Amino acid sequence: MERTLVLIKPDGVERNLSGEIIKRLEMRGLKITALKFLLVKEELARKHYDIHQGKPFYEGLIRYITSGPVIAMVLEGPNAIKAVRQTMGATNPVEADPGTIRHDFGIITSRNLTHASDSPENAEIEIGNWFTQDEIFQWERVHENFFTGLN
Ligand code: CMP
Repeated sequence: MERTLVLIKPDGVERNLSGEIIKRLEMRGLKITALKFLLVKEELARKHYDIHQGKPFYEGLIRYITSGPVIAMVLEGPNAIKAVRQTMGATNPVEADPGTIRHDFGIITSRNLTHASDSPENAEIEIGNWFTQDEIFQWERVHENFFTGLN
C-alpha cells in the first residue's frame, strides 16, 4: 500500500479550507494514518524544501511555510501519491484542472494551499522528516475492501 505526506499550508489553514481539503482527500478513499497541527520550525522547512534551495522563490517559500500553523498528514491507499496529486491539481493553480483543490481555491503558485509527495521514495523521506514512528497508526477500516479491493 502506498503512503504520501500531505501538508495543508498556512494559507489553507488561515482561509478555513482545512476541512474542505481533508474532506476531498477522504472522499477519494484515502486513509488518514497520521495527522498533526503545528507551527513549522525553520530547520524543518529548509529540510523539506531543500531541493528548491537557490531558486528565486526559495526564501519566500520558507517564510510562507513558517508563517502560520500547518496541518501535516500521512495518507495511505492504492496509488495514494498519484491520487492525491490529481485531487490537488497542478502546482500553479491557474494550470490546475477545474474541480481540483488548487484550481478551485487558488490563483497563484506561491499560495497553492497544499503540498503532496511526488514519488514513493520522496514520500518515505518526507514522512520521516515530519513524523515519528509512534505518531503513525496502522489501522483497518471496517470496510477497507471498498477502498483497497483487498479483503
Ligand atoms: P509544493 O508542492 O509544496 O512544492 C514546492 C513549492 O514551491 C510549491 O508547492 C509552491 O508553493 C512553491 N513554488 C514552486 N514554484 C514556484 C514559483 N515559481 N514561485 C513561487 N513559489 C513556487
